[in-house]
Amino acid sequence: MSSLQATLGDCTVVPAVAGAWPLAQQLALKLNCPSVRRAVDASSSVVLFVDHDDLWLQQQALEQVSPVRVDFASPGLQHRRRSGQNELLGRAVGVKGGERPSVLDATAGLGRDAYVLADLGCAVTLIERSDVLALMLQHALERASISAISSVQLAASRMRLQLGDSRDYKPTQETVIYLDPMFTDRRSSAAVKKDLSVLQALHGNVDNEDEQLLAWATAQPVRRVVVKRSIKSPPLDGRKPSHTIKGKAVRFDVYVL
Ligand SMILES: C[S@@+](CC[C@H](N)C(=O)[O-])C[C@H]1O[C@@H](n2cnc3c(N)ncnc32)[C@H](O)[C@@H]1O
Repeated sequence: MSSLQATLGDCTVVPAVAGAWPLAQQLALKLNCPSVRRAVDASSSVVLFVDHDDLWLQQQALEQVSPVRVDFASPGLQHRRRSGQNELLGRAVGVKGGERPSVLDATAGLGRDAYVLADLGCAVTLIERSDVLALMLQHALERASISAISSVQLAASRMRLQLGDSRDYKPTQETVIYLDPMFTDRRSSAAVKKDLSVLQALHGNVDNEDEQLLAWATAQPVRRVVVKRSIKSPPLDGRKPSHTIKGKAVRFDVYVL
């Protein structure tokens, strides 16, 4: 992972157990954010809990909801794999027969879509500008690389992480750019809303950012750009896609360049 300093949101590092306090301080220094011994003393809306072999985000106001982790071996992701929910995303990026495009996931987030693509056999470059999320992704990739589940290990070997703003990246090997920007409209699942809510609390939304990302992506030397949208949302920046692949709650707008 590059040592680039990315944007940092409102986050405090807290040890999950008393013995993890030195580790919490060390990570806070690395992330350039505060650390406190107890979550109740944190003034930020989001807390990063650290244990010796785990880390997770918790939104302070939403303590009743479960924490947000990056875990590629999680039952949720493994279910998504078995239930065939991967197919739409695979089709959108151009997985067909023996074809496995190399994908630049320019909005890596919690790495779930990137994992799905890697599991389908695509080489995936993940770019995430939040250093907190990049740290969680790096940790998850390290764990996945020694997972007891061989498919998780294999998928992790196809994923490469970089911290930074995608718009500073020049794709050379990737033939597809995938965007799942931070849109504020609704997605149906409560779990997805909870995860997005933590990401938004960490980084907020800047006006026209998603549109700028699409403009950057379509100017790159790739064959297609795929944008994930909520099923009822208009196309990003009002730009009509070449075609669309629809699921129940989300759709993928495909721009063939
Ligand atoms: C909705 S989340 C993506 C979720 C992801 N598809 C997943 O499956 O977990 C959007 C993420 O994109 C990141 N992001 C937005 N603009 C970015 C940019 N220009 N460069 C890098 N990351 C960006 C945000 O920090 C956020 O974590």
